[in-house]
Amino acid sequence: MVGTGSALIAALRAGRHSYGIELNPKYAEIARQLVAEERAALGEAAQGLAAEVITGDAARVAEYGLPTIDYVITSPPYWDMLHARGAETQKKRRSAADLDVVYSDDPNDLGNIHDYHAFLEKLVAIYAALKPLLRERAYLTIIVKNVKKGGKIYPLAWDLARALGEIYALKDEKIWCQDNQRLAPYGIGNAWVSNTFHHYCLQFRNE
Ligand SMILES: C[S@@+](CC[C@H](N)C(=O)[O-])C[C@H]1O[C@@H](n2cnc3c(N)ncnc32)[C@H](O)[C@@H]1O
Repeated sequence: MVGTGSALIAALRAGRHSYGIELNPKYAEIARQLVAEERAALGEAAQGLAAEVITGDAARVAEYGLPTIDYVITSPPYWDMLHARGAETQKKRRSAADLDVVYSDDPNDLGNIHDYHAFLEKLVAIYAALKPLLRERAYLTIIVKNVKKGGKIYPLAWDLARALGEIYALKDEKIWCQDNQRLAPYGIGNAWVSNTFHHYCLQFRNE
């Protein structure tokens, strides 16, 4: 779920080989271009480093001939949050004509699964299927958020932590705080609810 490839660029700068899988061919192509630009900027420092964008489905990770992996960093679609019409980010994206409002209309896009439990099951299965590829004691960082929808919270980060904690050791959590966002009162007239500013960086280890 490498999107436009920021993780691959960070890996190049850190002198590490990297592989990213992205379902949407448009994003995969942007990632390839950005990787090429970063290679050119880094010059010799990037020579011999793999930074490969695979256009494909993360659910099929076993089919892509990947080598043993030392570290995974990933941020999945936050359920079908991008389909929520009122979402603050969506309003901004709609007004900026060249920005996508949803990632794709591909049925394999996790952001297009509308049943929460079906979504969670598929996401857990994707991360569980990484296990045979991961070096023993390798870390897996998942950046994810609890989702507000229809007047309640679906605790995606916590559900994922609990389910994957059965497969990997849940070692740590860090909060990524988007303190550049403005407070939005969502529940006005009914309840006090605000938008959410914190994402979890869940740290698992292959133990
Ligand atoms: C939150 S974004 C990740 C953004 C990324 N961290 C970046 O720097 O651009 C989630 C990405 O997952 C992709 N995606 C959704 N379902 C997928 C699947 N089944 N396999 C691979 N990628 C998928 C979406 O197209 C989207 O680019």
